[in-house]
Amino acid sequence: MAAPASPPTTPHLFVVLGGTGDLMRRKLLPALYHFHARGDIPAGSGILAVARAPLDDAKFQQVALDALLAAGAGTDGAQDRANLEQWCARTIRFQSLAAGGSAGYAALSARIPQVEKELGLAGDRLFYLALPLQAFASTIQGLGDAGLAHGPGWTRVVVEKPFGRDLASAQQLNALLHRYFEEQQVYRIDHYLGKETVQNLLVLRFANAFIESDWNREHVEDVQITVAESLGVEDRAGYYESSGALRDMVQNHTTQVLSLVAMEPPGSLDADAIRNEKVKLLRSIAPLAPGDVVFGQYQAGGIGGQSVPGYRQEPGVSPTSDVETFVALRLRIANWRWQGVPFYLRTGKRLPAKSTRVVVTFRAPPVAFFHRAAAYEMSPDRLTILLQPDEGFELCFEVKVPGREMRTQTHRMSFRYSDVFGSLSDGYEMLLMDVLRGDPTHFVRADEVEASWTLYDPLLANRPPVRPYAAGTMGPAEADQLLEEMGHRWDESGLSGGS
Ligand code: BG6
Repeated sequence: MAAPASPPTTPHLFVVLGGTGDLMRRKLLPALYHFHARGDIPAGSGILAVARAPLDDAKFQQVALDALLAAGAGTDGAQDRANLEQWCARTIRFQSLAAGGSAGYAALSARIPQVEKELGLAGDRLFYLALPLQAFASTIQGLGDAGLAHGPGWTRVVVEKPFGRDLASAQQLNALLHRYFEEQQVYRIDHYLGKETVQNLLVLRFANAFIESDWNREHVEDVQITVAESLGVEDRAGYYESSGALRDMVQNHTTQVLSLVAMEPPGSLDADAIRNEKVKLLRSIAPLAPGDVVFGQYQAGGIGGQSVPGYRQEPGVSPTSDVETFVALRLRIANWRWQGVPFYLRTGKRLPAKSTRVVVTFRAPPVAFFHRAAAYEMSPDRLTILLQPDEGFELCFEVKVPGREMRTQTHRMSFRYSDVFGSLSDGYEMLLMDVLRGDPTHFVRADEVEASWTLYDPLLANRPPVRPYAAGTMGPAEADQLLEEMGHRWDESGLSGGS
């Protein structure tokens, strides 16, 4: 087993492109302040926010202070507040790209060593692209042409999702990154890979011999992956109208969960050993046929007793939009382990409740000896892995009902993370710490992102019809038919409503 990458020991410079944006204020600054407060990163590490705005260090330090206070930092008395103010002044700098184009990046390239000298840093640098997709290419090129892809110490670049809009644009982005950076310098974020329960999929499968020995076509009837959200598009119509659920959720988060559920055991816990298996798995998925895919769009309906508008009535959405807010897929994995076992994936907005789960239904015993106390239609042996919320898992199995007769009933054994470990930490911070440690295990490799786009690209070129579904339901009826055609049914237990 590979030794875990060690914590960073020398102070670094954390450069954020898009430094005045929402991600910086809501996530990055609070995470970096937590690292500092907990002593997780070496004292003296610096932050350089980069953006077009004509700010200076003092003005941006005030912006950062306000954001951190809003996030709850520095609110535990006068000393706590003073510590926070001191940290902002000592740690945070701002560089404007107002000069535009190569002049802006030349100025950045000149400023970085100055900041490093001022803060006493040896030249380890992380560039975080907290930017919309349209800005990725010019920023990568700007950094590369200014000679910033390599520095005196390590240089890493973090790229947010979405990584491309389709296969061709993802390939172009990878080619551009590789023009300047080596692959091991690149960290493509998918925040699902930072979730404890998603990381636990490897442990559940490969640390429990009885699970892994049943994890194949001999014993598994079907696998269902559901990523349900009760929220609608909220205030993100500008982005979502050019994205849709396939790009927003399926190509990345849902497919990452699928890879971890279905991949072969890696030879070790090395980042590349794991990612090799994920890529192999993605490449063994058979091309999707039109009949294997259902797109849906939510109409007005009700969630948790509240009426909610349809997608086309949301602010910023075109009244004739045919963007999909729901996708269901039936996948066939053409390999030795999974031949003949259908994998069903679905994700959607405005479903009754938020729930990300994997349901593995095991084959029914070959001979039905016993009478059941209650009629059932599905095979009772089921492992439900609850990725969020209410993280844990449940195993359903048959029990003899006490009495003379041999009658059985289905019961479940449950495990909840919260009962044992309390609340789970924010996966985003774990991912940031992984970048600082130089551990790419939970990031998406270039060939992996391309393998995933390869699978879904045909659906972008040749879109299936978009079926309506009422908000507060589990999607269009056609999504049920995908399973019924195979003699299966979605497992909806606990999905009927609430959050
Ligand atoms: C984001 C998508 O990547 O993931 C959002 O852009 C979605 O549309 C979100 O709501 C879901 O993340 P989580 O962690 O709440 O399941």
